[in-house]
Amino acid sequence: MDSNYLRLGVNIDHVATLRNARGGRHPDPIRAAEIAHRAGADGITAHLREDRRHINDRDIEMLRNEIELPLNLEMAPTEEMLEIALEVLPHAVCLVPEKREERTTEGGLEIKNNIAKLEPFVKQLGDAGIKLSLFIEPDLEQLDSSKKLGVPVVELHTGSFCLTKPGSIEYGQTFGRIIAAASHAKQLGLECHAGHGIDFSSVEMVASIPSIKELNIGHFLIGEAIFEGLEKSIIRMRNLMNKARLQMCDNESFK
Ligand code: PXP
Repeated sequence: MDSNYLRLGVNIDHVATLRNARGGRHPDPIRAAEIAHRAGADGITAHLREDRRHINDRDIEMLRNEIELPLNLEMAPTEEMLEIALEVLPHAVCLVPEKREERTTEGGLEIKNNIAKLEPFVKQLGDAGIKLSLFIEPDLEQLDSSKKLGVPVVELHTGSFCLTKPGSIEYGQTFGRIIAAASHAKQLGLECHAGHGIDFSSVEMVASIPSIKELNIGHFLIGEAIFEGLEKSIIRMRNLMNKARLQMCDNESFK
């Protein structure tokens, strides 16, 4: 595969949120994963939360067994989740911080002060052949600690950047932090992913950073599906990612 290719992981959590609002089986996250596949997603991402507020254990089992795309299981570093991951054996696991009272994953994992706690996860998931990533803030210290811990992948939290107003000082600052973190990840030999809060207006900026190899996008795509349909919204996101990557190649060739 082209080394400039940017993978798209579609997070289907909020299809399950809508299903759970009424109980029953509709809308079915498995059907959403099939549509995502048709629309050009490279993987399916799902967060199994401790409180099972959206994705549940059956969804994870079905996604693993019935969907051809690689499954990226987002989970908190707890004994319960470790046991599930070792049984399900997803292609990848992304460790995320989790608080019951939060609406969504607020901020990245604190690695530096949790090395001893995280080591058994790195060892056991790695031994099982699962590609492990850590969801972290775009912070150089967190990257150094991730490297020390021995994970192959980090996912940078893009939430702060995506929430800022284009053109504002914070916009430049938060984007600068993502660029610096992505290039530091490359220097450290870590594969770099990014995600959280990405929409049609922010995706091209993030996708234009060459060392980022995968984006995980959920809430916006599922919301947009209400208006445009899921397949159409994923195709549009995919096209914007491709456009940013093509422009990136053009810019590189002028250097
Ligand atoms: N990456 C990680 C690690 C996440 O926890 C989430 C949210 O579940 C996402 C990406 C996707 O974020 P969003 O739903 O805002 O696109």
